[in-house]
Amino acid sequence: MASKDEYERIAVVTGANKGIGFQIATQLAAAKGTVVLTARDEGRGLEAISKLHKLGFSNVVFYKVDVTNINNIISLVGFIKEKFGRLDILVNNAGTTGMEVDEEGLRALNIDQATWISGKAANLVKDVMQTTYEKAEECFNTNYYGTKILTEALLPLLNLSTHRARIVNVSSLRGELWRIPNEKIRNEFLSIESLTEQRIHELLQSFLQDVKQNRLIENGWPLMLPAYGISKTAVNAYTRLLAKKHPTMYINCVHPGYVDTDLSWHTGPMSPEDGAKAPVRLALLPDGGPTGCYFDQMNVASF
Ligand SMILES: NC(=O)c1ccc[n+]([C@@H]2O[C@H](COP(=O)([O-])OP(=O)(O)OC[C@H]3O[C@@H](n4cnc5c(N)ncnc54)[C@H](OP(=O)(O)O)[C@@H]3O)[C@@H](O)[C@H]2O)c1
Repeated sequence: MASKDEYERIAVVTGANKGIGFQIATQLAAAKGTVVLTARDEGRGLEAISKLHKLGFSNVVFYKVDVTNINNIISLVGFIKEKFGRLDILVNNAGTTGMEVDEEGLRALNIDQATWISGKAANLVKDVMQTTYEKAEECFNTNYYGTKILTEALLPLLNLSTHRARIVNVSSLRGELWRIPNEKIRNEFLSIESLTEQRIHELLQSFLQDVKQNRLIENGWPLMLPAYGISKTAVNAYTRLLAKKHPTMYINCVHPGYVDTDLSWHTGPMSPEDGAKAPVRLALLPDGGPTGCYFDQMNVASF
């Protein structure tokens, strides 16, 4: 077996054509090994690869993956299997917010960081941000089901890693349980001994029904970025279940910080480069590091 320094990791990053994902791919490429930069749009993906090649990173390859497209996922698995025969790092980064947003209107509100992060802005933004059923469903399909289906498909190759694979699910502080007013729902997500993937699925479907029937307030769901928050709560819970099931791997989820990207409508103060640091640290976690944990940037935090 190669020593840690000689060891050239094979990594997959989803949604890596821009934002935090692009920086994760860049920082992993700088750490040696090969990075499979994936994006749902071929043009945008190839443009990202070209930028990295110009920066001198020849160890980055592109593969087209829409995480909501099962054929793309199957095809990626075939590609990794044939080209590398194993996978060492998977970073599930692709994400979307599940909101219809009047971006100009949002920026004009000029909401301060503390009010935004705490969720107290929910009332302020209700005229410029709307949760629709279609957007909420797209958000779940990308953030939760996309992460889960892609991960399950790659698990056999992650199991072949000679150095105990690392899985990093890029989550958000919006998924923290204290933000869910309904105590029963909160406790279900928290009770990891009794929680199942089937129950996570049922909770997500009941959220979607409540969106359809305009019952989010009545049923105690969070009101600030509701679908996004619940999709990340589900990602966090899934991370814990997966870590329990695969004790030989290091599987964690992480809030990368409040970052200036398209997803945050450029309201966040951190650079994407800095936003990539915590996910990359978890992707390169030394042996013996934690698993089944949620990190708020560099620190372990409560689910
Ligand atoms: N920015 C923040 O403040 C913040 C805070 C907490 C967590 N996060 C998390 O960080 C991650 C990256 O977000 P970001 O801020 O870097 O946003 P971003 O710049 O908007 O990047 C999002 C990426 O996800 C991709 N994507 C969306 N749907 C996809 C799909 N179905 N299949 C494949 N790729 C898809 C996008 O591709 P296209 O270019 O094709 O749309 C893009 O590459 C997300 O998981 C997000 O929830 C961000």
